[in-house]
Amino acid sequence: MTGDWEIAPLRSGDEALVRFLVARLTPQSRYRRFRSSSPMPSAEVVSHLARPDGWHHIALVAYTPGVREPIGLGEVFRDAAFDDGEAAILVVDGWQGRGVGAALLAGLVDAGRGVGLRRLHGEFLAEHRAVRRLLVRGTVGTRFIPDAGTTTFEAAI
Ligand SMILES: CC(C)(COP(=O)(O)OP(=O)(O)OC[C@H]1O[C@@H](n2cnc3c(N)ncnc32)[C@H](O)[C@@H]1OP(=O)(O)O)[C@@H](O)C(=O)NCCC(=O)NCCS
Repeated sequence: MTGDWEIAPLRSGDEALVRFLVARLTPQSRYRRFRSSSPMPSAEVVSHLARPDGWHHIALVAYTPGVREPIGLGEVFRDAAFDDGEAAILVVDGWQGRGVGAALLAGLVDAGRGVGLRRLHGEFLAEHRAVRRLLVRGTVGTRFIPDAGTTTFEAAI
């Protein structure tokens, strides 16, 4: 199945959904997203991820069509600078490579523009080719800055 993902805001406070998604990541994907081998981020981190307000913090969930199984989560945290935000995306392993990450990024770009964000930045493990491809396709003038195993990106939206 590809396409037709439903992309919708995470309901603020829905920690159960965040845990549901993280529990469906392989250790490798979890490490790529959270840089930790712990099976679940701390309660504080889960709470932080689960409290979007649509302005300081945008969080979008990807669902399968029909039964609405949650399969991905994209987040942007606004920086102190009004128009910059830090982005991160996760897609559960069984659904990777089918365009879910691209749909989440497109949703984050739209939602970010809607609240005045002009640039996104973030960091990923340099070996993770999918992130680079995702960003090149989904953002404008993306710059990649390598640094000892990780890559920082900066992109206009
Ligand atoms: C990075 C991630 C979000 C991408 O999501 P996804 O749903 O698999 O991505 P898509 O299917 O939309 O594919 C995006 C691009 O990556 C490419 N891609 C997907 N899986 C790939 C793989 N295993 N190797 C190389 N490229 C891959 C796709 O071909 C596509 O590029 P294209 O448009 O040029 O064809 C997902 O792999 C993930 O959640 N990884 C673990 C967490 C993580 O690393 N998050 C990023 C750091 S915050």
